[in-house]
Amino acid sequence: MKFGTKAIHAGVHPDPSTGAIMTPIFQTSTYVQRSPGDHKGFEYSRTHNPTRTQLQDALAALDNGKHGLAFASGMAAIDCIVKLLQPGDEVISTNDLYGGSYRLFTKVYATYGIKFHFVPMHDMTAVQAAVTERTKLIWVETPTNPLLNVIDIAAASAVAKKAGALLVVDNTFATPYLQTPLALGADMVMYSLTKYMAGHSDTVMGAVVVNNDELHERLSFFQNACGGTPGPQDCFLVLRGLKTLHIRMQRHCENGRQVAEYLKAHPKVDKVYWPGFPDHPNHEIAARQMNDFGGMISFVLKGDRKEDAVATLEKFQLFSLAESLGGVESLSGHPATMTHASIPAEQRRTAGLSDSLIRLSVGIEDAEDLIEDLKQAIG
Ligand SMILES: Cc1ncc(COP(=O)(O)O)c(C=O)c1O
Repeated sequence: MKFGTKAIHAGVHPDPSTGAIMTPIFQTSTYVQRSPGDHKGFEYSRTHNPTRTQLQDALAALDNGKHGLAFASGMAAIDCIVKLLQPGDEVISTNDLYGGSYRLFTKVYATYGIKFHFVPMHDMTAVQAAVTERTKLIWVETPTNPLLNVIDIAAASAVAKKAGALLVVDNTFATPYLQTPLALGADMVMYSLTKYMAGHSDTVMGAVVVNNDELHERLSFFQNACGGTPGPQDCFLVLRGLKTLHIRMQRHCENGRQVAEYLKAHPKVDKVYWPGFPDHPNHEIAARQMNDFGGMISFVLKGDRKEDAVATLEKFQLFSLAESLGGVESLSGHPATMTHASIPAEQRRTAGLSDSLIRLSVGIEDAEDLIEDLKQAIG
């Protein structure tokens, strides 16, 4: 089945009791049993809920995976994955990653005795050099947030396999429309469904997709035992969003290209970060492992002054200044004070994240209007 057909049909079935074509919102906490232990597969909604089950099956199908697990947020999904580790274990993560992931790693799990190494993962020799006999997890985010570096998933998988470690790919920016990490050797694919997957800036949710049955069993144990599960209304919203993922992503990519090219040619713009440019340092990997280059773009104005970036952000009319990304509407952001403020300034600078960097999530409006907005805001 091709991707668009799967986005609409995979994992979901008409409701057996009514024939409703859309998965109903099973707004219930519990399920009546005929006799103790004699039930229809549902006992309590933290453990199983029919709306969530259909979403989990749809998510697994889109990534060509066997099992999907949905969570109340992307952070709850990451939290569940890190719970696979023990004190003394080590994680190698990209040094250019979502600030909330960095915060969870360094402010929560580091205090439980798990050691994190942050390395520039577009250089696989740096990953290999950080491997020790205690390395249990390799954490890849690609394209990275916000510098749009592209990490070679197959190469990271080779390092992970040799080290006996699990490979996780945070696929939030790419979605399975652009890349399917399990096929490239990842053990787990993780999402903030809040972004492109749900696609309408109306819900916060997360997910993990895996192939391995034992890994699925361990993660579902934590999902139920720790309880970071989403409600059925939110699952419904993501299910609805998934049905248009392919056409939204196609438009995000088309608009992304036009915006990136406009910015690159602008005399006041110094650097544009977008993996679709042939001179992007990881373009060759992006072209190999992705189906297109996405709608996330970062840029720096000439002079590299924070005050110029702030003035531009204040002038945007269509690129609303807001946290988050991946919705139908275009958003702008200032990572140094917003999404990445939890990463210390020194660490941000080492990763190449300037305080004047502007991040754009290019929506699916008409590209001409988006370019007009950039024109009036940059001047
Ligand atoms: C790449 C990435 N991963 C994970 C998350 C966390 O997801 P959530 O906000 O849904 O908890 C985000 C949120 O911005 C993100 O951008």
